[in-house]
Amino acid sequence: MTDAYLNRRTFAIISHPDAGKTTLTEKLLLASGAIRLAGEVKAKGDRRRARSDWLAIEQKRGISVTTSAMTFEHDGAIFNLLDTPGHEDFSEDTYRTLTAVDSAIMVIDAAKGIETQTRKLFEVCRLRDIPIITYINKVDREGRDLFELLDEIADQLALDVCPLVWPLGTGGQFKGCYDLAHDRVLLPADGNVSGAFAKTLELDSADDPRLDELIGADEVADAREAMELAREGYAPFDLKAFREGTLTPVYFGSALKEFTVAELLRDVGKFAPPPQPRKTGPQQAGAEEISPDDDAVSGFVFKVQANMDPNHRDRIAFVRICSGRFKRGMKLKVTRTGKALAINAPIFFMAQDRQLAEEAVAGDIVGIPNHGALGVGDTLSERDGLQYTGLPDFAPEIIRRVRLDDPMKSKQMKRAMIALAEEGASQVFTPVLGADFYVGVVGALQLDVIEARLKAEYGVAVTLEVCGYETVRWLGGDEDTDIQTFVAKNQGAVAHDRYGAPVYLARSQWEAGYAEDKNPGVQFLKTRERT
Ligand code: G4P
Repeated sequence: MTDAYLNRRTFAIISHPDAGKTTLTEKLLLASGAIRLAGEVKAKGDRRRARSDWLAIEQKRGISVTTSAMTFEHDGAIFNLLDTPGHEDFSEDTYRTLTAVDSAIMVIDAAKGIETQTRKLFEVCRLRDIPIITYINKVDREGRDLFELLDEIADQLALDVCPLVWPLGTGGQFKGCYDLAHDRVLLPADGNVSGAFAKTLELDSADDPRLDELIGADEVADAREAMELAREGYAPFDLKAFREGTLTPVYFGSALKEFTVAELLRDVGKFAPPPQPRKTGPQQAGAEEISPDDDAVSGFVFKVQANMDPNHRDRIAFVRICSGRFKRGMKLKVTRTGKALAINAPIFFMAQDRQLAEEAVAGDIVGIPNHGALGVGDTLSERDGLQYTGLPDFAPEIIRRVRLDDPMKSKQMKRAMIALAEEGASQVFTPVLGADFYVGVVGALQLDVIEARLKAEYGVAVTLEVCGYETVRWLGGDEDTDIQTFVAKNQGAVAHDRYGAPVYLARSQWEAGYAEDKNPGVQFLKTRERT
């Protein structure tokens, strides 16, 4: 048994595009000491990397922070921060990444409140009762009424809210923040709000006369009244309620001006839960979940990134360790294939570097280089037959026929398409009849990425053509004969996914519903989960 995992904090930042996720990520890394001041560290060459929001940090700031996971240490805790693509067309990727975290920071723009993508991502977190810390960003700009923002979170997300850091003035009047839990004022170091790290001033209470001097007699009365209301009018902080996902602590701040970032980091370390037990498939005799202190090493692949280094055709599987004490060189079994994989060169992704991972425990994110042995959703374990659940494939909403510009490259194209599918970037379907090959995605932007990547990384030029189909349904049911009869009767509209599972190709959502009505013995499933 190991309890080394207890200091791991594995989390993601969720937000609507432009709310400030990238800025906050950078400032959290700065506050932890994982990277130094912006601009000091130059990006390493022009190594091409798979699409990541963090690329923006590199490009804008000249800082080298890479890949989909970043590990850093601060104040005795080891933080694993996972990147979630902001654009909604990459929502599947985000969904899967959120299965690998134990908590999340929700960034909200103070001028906008809850936006569509915030709500969607929040709902994904709610499915797993992931605890959420709320960071209301950009209080240095004119925003909405602070209480209105709090009430919106409470009403729309059905959460208890508990403000812990309060802004002293907003927009042009912004003077700093007040740490309600510790009675401290967080001030700009140089007295103006464009300063670097805030300095802090300990007070006895919000009635301390030094607050009058700091923010001026005119505004102090309003500030005190607002803070009293913030303390009295909302739920008190309750660690259990937070960890159960029913209460969110709220921090007002400015990522850009580095306000409330250190406090946020401190409290992720203090309040966010350590790794939690994970659910497994139904075939696990007796065990419905595996505890992080279980002796046997286990983990699952939540993301695969290919060709991070164009000089080597490498694929890195991002594995969240769920139990045991993993050691480099160990052999773990991939449940899907039944094959044992010797893991000789596992990687930790530090903020600026990769390091050989000698040892890892639950909560840690380990990169495993491989040549196709690992795909998204795979479980690796010392146990036989263990399969973690919760990483479904979603029915695509766009289907395209893949037309090769050079028909001689059919083999390369198929290999490349399957590699992309194993990354979770798309799905592929082979119709029962004919030689066509279909690709399915959830968002249109993914099509551009597929075309561009096939060309750049695999040297295959394709056109993705409209083909008349819009979606698929996985065929399921208690009776195999019902499925077989349906497949035999509808051969022209049946294909196989990359695991060989039969799917119905539908020309519209309506047609999918119609087929379902007409074939009561067959299930038409919008998601497929390996169990
Ligand atoms: P995202 O990753 O969530 O999409 O957001 P990002 O951090 O890229 O921030 C979006 C814009 O909001 C950026 O401005 C950024 O500077 C600004 N921003 C982030 N945090 C704050 C804050 O606390 N206060 C203020 N006033 N602005 C903030 P931009 O003009 O798009 O980019 P840039 O050229 O300024 O970098």
